[in-house]
Amino acid sequence: MTPGSRLIVAIDGPAASGKATLGRRLAAALGLPYLDTGLLYRAVGRRVLDAGDDPSDPIAATRAARALAAADLARDDLRGPAADAAASRVAALPAVRAALLDFQRAFGRTTGAVVDGRDIGTVIFPDAQVKLFVTASPEERARRRWLELRGRGFDVSLARVQADMQARDEADAARATAPLRPAPDAVLLDTTTLDADAALAQALTLVGR
Ligand code: CDP
Repeated sequence: MTPGSRLIVAIDGPAASGKATLGRRLAAALGLPYLDTGLLYRAVGRRVLDAGDDPSDPIAATRAARALAAADLARDDLRGPAADAAASRVAALPAVRAALLDFQRAFGRTTGAVVDGRDIGTVIFPDAQVKLFVTASPEERARRRWLELRGRGFDVSLARVQADMQARDEADAARATAPLRPAPDAVLLDTTTLDADAALAQALTLVGR
């Protein structure tokens, strides 16, 4: 990294791979702001559902994306099966992604940032100094998400969580615009057998701290 340039750490990966936990902790360790871009798509999906519209409807979803406000990101209903599915559906629409692009690129422009999502290293910050592609086995990711959902009071089976997650990952990877895939220069970090401390330690080594 050249002296004085802002450090952007781009973290991508499939559902429940540990991106957000790692991103939050890495940002704190580096003294940088953190952006979970999944929240943007979740909040757009929620707005569409609130309006009684279909999350796959480009006009309704783009209207919701353009109207997004900070308060939408603080809602307490952005997680759970309905929010997951709506987020993935609005995220497949190019006009929705375009409406959210400037906000993401401007985030941390003066300070640097840790940003996580699906297309951070490929589309949002292709010049990020550090790119991580965080993954874990499907079974471990499903187990983590199931525990999280149960902790939030959702009565869902592990099998259902794994099936929903697989469907969402497949949709995210197959879409034409900004599909989920590692940037060619991303470093793979498999967290299947790593706890949060071990994942952070590996990421800090990769960042060179
Ligand atoms: O927490 P989890 O990994 O399950 O999902 P998330 O990161 O909150 O993202 C929710 C959904 O938003 C994903 O399934 C993607 O469809 C979409 N997303 C995206 O398309 N691009 C991003 N940069 C972030 C999320």
